[in-house]
Amino acid sequence: MNAKEKISSSTFAAQYPELGTGPVGTDVYCDPAFYERELAAIFRRTWLCVGRVEQAPKSGDFFQKALPTFGYSVIVARAKDQKLRAFYNVCQHRGNHVELRQSGHCVGFTCPFHGWTYGLDGKLVGVPDASGFFDLDKSKLGLRQLALDVWEGFVFINMDPSPSQTLEEAMGEQGRDLVGYPFDSGTAVFEYEGTINCNWKSMIDSFCETYHVPVLHRHSVKDTLAGPDNPYGRLIDCRIKGPHRTQSVWGNMAYTPNPVQGLAWQNAPGPAVTSGVVDAAVKLPKGLNETRAKHWSLDVTVFFPNWIIVMGSGMYFTHQMWPLAANKVVWQMRGFLRPATNAAQRFGQENSMVELRDAVLEDCNTLERIQTAQDEGLITEMIYHDHEIALRHQYHVVKQWVEGFEKNQKKKGKGAR
Ligand code: FES
Ligand SMILES: [Fe+2]
Repeated sequence: MNAKEKISSSTFAAQYPELGTGPVGTDVYCDPAFYERELAAIFRRTWLCVGRVEQAPKSGDFFQKALPTFGYSVIVARAKDQKLRAFYNVCQHRGNHVELRQSGHCVGFTCPFHGWTYGLDGKLVGVPDASGFFDLDKSKLGLRQLALDVWEGFVFINMDPSPSQTLEEAMGEQGRDLVGYPFDSGTAVFEYEGTINCNWKSMIDSFCETYHVPVLHRHSVKDTLAGPDNPYGRLIDCRIKGPHRTQSVWGNMAYTPNPVQGLAWQNAPGPAVTSGVVDAAVKLPKGLNETRAKHWSLDVTVFFPNWIIVMGSGMYFTHQMWPLAANKVVWQMRGFLRPATNAAQRFGQENSMVELRDAVLEDCNTLERIQTAQDEGLITEMIYHDHEIALRHQYHVVKQWVEGFEKNQKKKGKGAR
């Protein structure tokens, strides 16, 4: 079967009949009450990515990660025993931040208010003028710890004190299928961040269908991600694995870059994900371009609830969504490139970053208008194309999680009576 036949014969609805084909309500995108339910059922009890192990490689290293959804930040620190731990950045005396630096190396944390000191393992080790306190039990006043675990070098935390799943269980089949990708070689990191007046799920949706590629991206990546053999930019494949999903995006291998772009791509250390070029030297794990399609450019992999990895064979980047309200989200994007070893490679990287930024800005461009239409009730249902199945899946998963959690809580409540 050639690429053209494969693309025109895909019917995801038949592959995933449980998701249906009818319109999907917009209520979960704009209802403030539903947003509060999402926080309790999803964000307060799922594993959330907060960084990479390379940010704290040696004992004494730490970094901080703000969690905009909750307004506070966590400290991830590596203690003498080499273990990484995560703590709320909250002093147990009166609640000040114990660390103000975003990252660094230290022997412990000293609160800049009254000077209580904590070890890298979170234990309270020093209290100035301790004899003035009453029955102070230092052993009970360590920094409050959060569950932490690592998947392929990515550090995750969970604010549920007893998470219902381990990180390994939560990453599931999709996580297992990506083991072995050279995530650790992308040590040259760049970041973009923005606050957008839209629902966090819409922000995810904007990266999870390619139906828009030939139109919205007509001035940027249209000719690399669509072409004469695939004029509508149809997906190669979409695979749903539990609450997660991955899509393999088609690449136009016949695309001829303009002269400056060609020079940049030739020099980038590893092809850019916007280039539609594959690096044959990278051994792809099972779950990346799973069908081993020849016209493949990249995979868009969503780990429920709020983390996307976009992977090509030469670079990868992540998106993370931190909701602030039903109609407001902080979007954080991190790109991971192989370090440049000369100026030409650096130029190639800069080109990749800018091309990517322009495409992503186009993606973001529609979101606030859509949100207004939803908030005002001007649209109450969305009609999804077969290749917008990832959006349909997200809707179902979010509803299932919220309703399932509430049902369980009710049962527990009844049991306790
Ligand atoms: S609040 Fe930290 S020492 Fe007082
Ligand atoms: Fe896009």
